[in-house]
Amino acid sequence: MIIKDQKDVTTAVLSELERAKNPRFKEIMSAAVRHLHDFAREVKLTEEEFQQACAYIAALGRHTTATHNEVVLMAGSLGFSTLICLLNNGNKGQTETTANLLGPFWRLDSPRTKNGASIVRSPTAGPALFVDAWVRDTEGNTVIGAEVDVWQSSPEGFYENQDPGQADMNLRGKFTTDADGHIRFRTVKPAGYPIPIGGPVGELIRAQGRHNMRPAHLHFLIYKPGYKTQFSQVYVNDDPNLDSDVQFGVTESLVGNYVRHESDTPPAHDVKGPWYSLEYTFIIEPGLAKLPRPPVTAKAEGDRPKLAILERS
Ligand SMILES: [Fe+2]
Repeated sequence: MIIKDQKDVTTAVLSELERAKNPRFKEIMSAAVRHLHDFAREVKLTEEEFQQACAYIAALGRHTTATHNEVVLMAGSLGFSTLICLLNNGNKGQTETTANLLGPFWRLDSPRTKNGASIVRSPTAGPALFVDAWVRDTEGNTVIGAEVDVWQSSPEGFYENQDPGQADMNLRGKFTTDADGHIRFRTVKPAGYPIPIGGPVGELIRAQGRHNMRPAHLHFLIYKPGYKTQFSQVYVNDDPNLDSDVQFGVTESLVGNYVRHESDTPPAHDVKGPWYSLEYTFIIEPGLAKLPRPPVTAKAEGDRPKLAILERS
């Protein structure tokens, strides 16, 4: 159709979309066009602002490389990733869920590790942490033989693949749930870390006066045929940034009870000073077991990167 005024242009685009053969494509794109056009009307977007927005989206692409995905970082920084997670887990958003964001640092082929063993593979300072985790189904039944990948940052705030100073696969392991649906391992207490702010995400966060920290957490990926593969993160309850996570990942059900022990006998002889323990139960749902595409495939070389930290204003 030939367009008469600003209202007509939305009708013109939507009527062309009617030609699309794939009904789901038509549904998604029609809603996207309606919301996008209405958004511009609501804020009365100027031509200059529109040009800025286009440049901004182009910059998301330019800052994305084989080892860094600025688009995923942006989705997290807008709370969109958590929204998608909560809409698609917990019986499609009906109930609480232990699912969470995958994050950018999962690697394929974590070393298989025996229950009870340590995932500390090169000297890593920090208080010892002993983790007991269980996997149950939505009926509360034990899930036996599930593969559970675990990964975390060091107490200095680096995943091993970012940090040439750590052994390959340090603070990573793959466990299998036993007859009680249980895994256990030793590690060090994780620390919070800043997300990169060298690109458009940094600009957004500065403009909002936010900090760029993620609260400390352990990552989990639970895989068993017959169940929807679950990504999860269990956050450290004493982290100061729990309620201001730059990626909006912290949900109530994922704040773990990391218990500090001052004088209790530790589970291993070589533990010096205070140590921590964590018990946590994951609930997985029936569905498709499918591993994600690993966001990173290689380990950093050269110097350890510098971590840039913003203060919250
Ligand atoms: Fe993480």
